[in-house]
Amino acid sequence: MHPHQLYLSLLLACMATFTYAIAGPIPIVSLEQLDPTLPPVLSGQNPTCSLVVLEQDFADTVGSPPASANYTEPRDCPFPWTRVVLELSISASDLQKDRVAAVWIDGSEVLRTATPRPMARGAFWRVHKDITRYAALLRHLSGGGSGAISMMLENSNDFFPGVFSANISLHFYRGALPTSPRHLAAGFAAHPTIEGLYHEPADLILPISNPNGYYRSGFWLRINNETHVESTSITIPKNTYRAVLEIFVSYHGDDEFWYTNPLHSAYLHQPPSNLSVPRANGAFRQVYATIDGRFVGGHIPFAVIYPSTINPYFWSPVAAIGAFDMPSYDLDLTPFLGFMLDGRPHDIGLGVRDAQPYWLVSANLHLWVDAWSDSVQAGLTEYIAPPIKMYRNAEWRDKDGESEIDAEGLLRFTGWVSSSKGNLTTQVRQKIKLKSQVEIHNRGSTTQIELQNKERMMVSIQKGHQPLGRVQLLMEAPLQVQTSMVSAAGGAAFQKSRLYHQLMEMVTLSEGQAMTTSTLTDRQDAEGSALTHDGEPVWGSGSTKSSYRYKDESTCYLRSVNTAGGVVMMDTKSASCLAVVDP
Ligand SMILES: *[C@@H]1O[C@H](CO)[C@@H](O)[C@H](O)[C@H]1NC(C)=O
Ligand SMILES: *[C@@H]1O[C@H](CO)[C@@H](O)[C@H](O)[C@H]1NC(C)=O
Ligand SMILES: *[C@@H]1O[C@H](CO)[C@@H](O)[C@H](O)[C@H]1NC(C)=O
Ligand SMILES: *[C@@H]1O[C@H](CO)[C@@H](O)[C@H](O)[C@H]1NC(C)=O
Ligand SMILES: *[C@@H]1O[C@H](CO)[C@@H](O)[C@H](O)[C@H]1NC(C)=O
Repeated sequence: MHPHQLYLSLLLACMATFTYAIAGPIPIVSLEQLDPTLPPVLSGQNPTCSLVVLEQDFADTVGSPPASANYTEPRDCPFPWTRVVLELSISASDLQKDRVAAVWIDGSEVLRTATPRPMARGAFWRVHKDITRYAALLRHLSGGGSGAISMMLENSNDFFPGVFSANISLHFYRGALPTSPRHLAAGFAAHPTIEGLYHEPADLILPISNPNGYYRSGFWLRINNETHVESTSITIPKNTYRAVLEIFVSYHGDDEFWYTNPLHSAYLHQPPSNLSVPRANGAFRQVYATIDGRFVGGHIPFAVIYPSTINPYFWSPVAAIGAFDMPSYDLDLTPFLGFMLDGRPHDIGLGVRDAQPYWLVSANLHLWVDAWSDSVQAGLTEYIAPPIKMYRNAEWRDKDGESEIDAEGLLRFTGWVSSSKGNLTTQVRQKIKLKSQVEIHNRGSTTQIELQNKERMMVSIQKGHQPLGRVQLLMEAPLQVQTSMVSAAGGAAFQKSRLYHQLMEMVTLSEGQAMTTSTLTDRQDAEGSALTHDGEPVWGSGSTKSSYRYKDESTCYLRSVNTAGGVVMMDTKSASCLAVVDP
C-alpha cells in the first residue's frame, strides 16, 4: 500500500469520531467567527441611538424573495449624522454550508457578505459596516418617513440542518467622534474608494438593481456570460455635478473560483476536488459599466475566498480577507455627465469580462447635486480606453502543464462640469496589471497558483490650470495557493494546502498644499490538510495567521489573529501599533 493511502485509510477510520466531535453539543471550536478589520467606530464611543430594523431566520429560502421590513427613522436622532454603522449579527443553529448574502435599503445595496461555514451549533458572528456613505438613503426618511430594509440569504436544509438567524441594527452617531480621523470617517480603510475627495456623502443614490427585487429573486442582477450586460434605465437630476458608480459583485456556479482558473485544462473534472474548477478561460475578470452601451470603466475584482474554498478549516473561526464585507468597486463617472444631463432616461449597464455562469451584481449611482443651479453643463474632452493588452499561453502534457496570463490596461477619461462651483475638470486615470500562473505537476496531483493583481488609480479635479484636489490609490493583491492531493476509491481524497493572500492599499489625498496618506495591509498565511468525501470536507485541520494593519498620519491600528484547529490561539489589538515590531 502506498504510504499516502495508508494514511488515508487511517483517517477514514477516524472520520466518524471527528465528525461527531465537530457536530457534538460540546463545542471544541471557537463559536465566534472573526473578521480582523478596523472597527468603524473605536470602542468607548456610544451611538446616539440604535434601531433594530430586521430580525429574520433563513431556513429553506432558495428561490424566495428577500426578507423585508419597514422601519421609521428615530425621532431623537435626526439627520445629519457624523456616522451611521450597520450591524449584522448572525447565528447558525447547526452545521451548514457557506452562503452569500446581501442587505439593501430601498433597493440600494449596502452590504454583500459571505457567511462562514458553521462547523458547530451556535456559531455566531457580527459584521459592522460604516454606511455613512449611504446617508442619502436614510435621510429621505426624515420627518417620520419610512424605508424598507431587505436581506437575502439563500439557504437550503437539503444537506445540512443549519438555520441562519439574522438581526440587522442601525447605529446613528451625532456630534464629534474625536478619535476618528477623517479618512476613517470616509470608510477609506475598508477597500478601494475615491469618496475621500468628496468629503460629504452623496445627495442622492439611485439603485442599479432589479426593480422587482421585493418580489422575485431579489435586487441583484445576474450576469451569465462574457457578453451579457444587464442594463437599468435611470434619469438623473439636471443639476448633478458629480457621479460615482459603486458596483457590488459575487461569483457563483462555474465561476466561484475564477481566480484559480488555468487556460485550457486537460485535467478537467479531476476528482475529487474542484479547487481548480474545470474551466479553461483563465483567471482574468473585469467588472465594468456602460452608459448607453459605451464602456465607462472597470476594475479587476479582488479575489475574496469563500469559506468552502481550498481548505474550509482555514476559514474557521477567522474569515478570509473581505469575506464579511465584500469590497465594492467605484467608478468615477463625472467625466461622462455630459451624456446624462438632458433630463431623459439613460441605460447604465453592468457586465463582467470573461464571466462564466454566473455573477450577481448590483450598483449604486452616488450623485452630488448643485443646490444653487437648476441645471449644469458638462462635456467629455478625452476618452482613452484601448483594448487590454493580453498575453495568454498554456502548455499541457496529459494532466500536467502550465498556464500563464499577463494583462495590462490603461484608461484615461477627462470631462468638465460647469456649475455654481465654477467650470471644473475631472480626470480619471487607471492602470491595471494582472498576472496569473497555474502549474500542475505530478500527474495532476500538485497545483500551484499565483495571482498578482495591481491597480493604480487617480482622480484629479482642476479649475482652469489650478489643481484643486487629487486622490491616488495604489492597490496590490498577491495570492499564492499550493495544493497536493491524494485520491482514493469511493470519492475520498486527502489534500494538503498552503496559502498566502494579501491586500495592500495606499491612498494619497492632496488638496492645495495639504497631503495625507493612509496605508492598509491585510495579510493571511494559512496551511493545513483536509479529508474530503465527494467534495465535502469530513475532517481537516488548518492554521491561519491574519494580520491587519492600518496607518495614517494620526492613527495606527493593528490586529493580529492566529487560529489553529478551529480555535483562536492568539488575538491582539493595538490602537497605536506600539506593541508591534515591523517585519
Ligand atoms: C411597507 O410599507 C408599504 C407601504 O408604505 C407596504 O406596502 C408594505 O407592505 C410594507 N412592508 C412590510 C414588510 O411591512
Ligand atoms: C436577535 O435579537 C433577539 C432579541 O431581539 C435576540 O434574542 C437574538 O439572540 C438575536 N440574534 C442574533 C443572531 O443576534
Ligand atoms: C449570454 O447570456 C445571455 C443571458 O442569459 C443569453 O441570452 C445569451 O445567449 C448568452 N450568450 C452566450 C454566448 O452564451
Ligand atoms: C469649461 O471648460 C472647458 C475647457 O476646460 C471648455 O471646453 C468648456 O466650454 C467650458 N464650459 C463652459 C460652460 O464654460
Ligand atoms: C466538480 O465539478 C463538476 C462540474 O462542475 C461536478 O459535476 C462534480 O460533481 C464536482 N465534484 C465534486 C466532488 O464536487
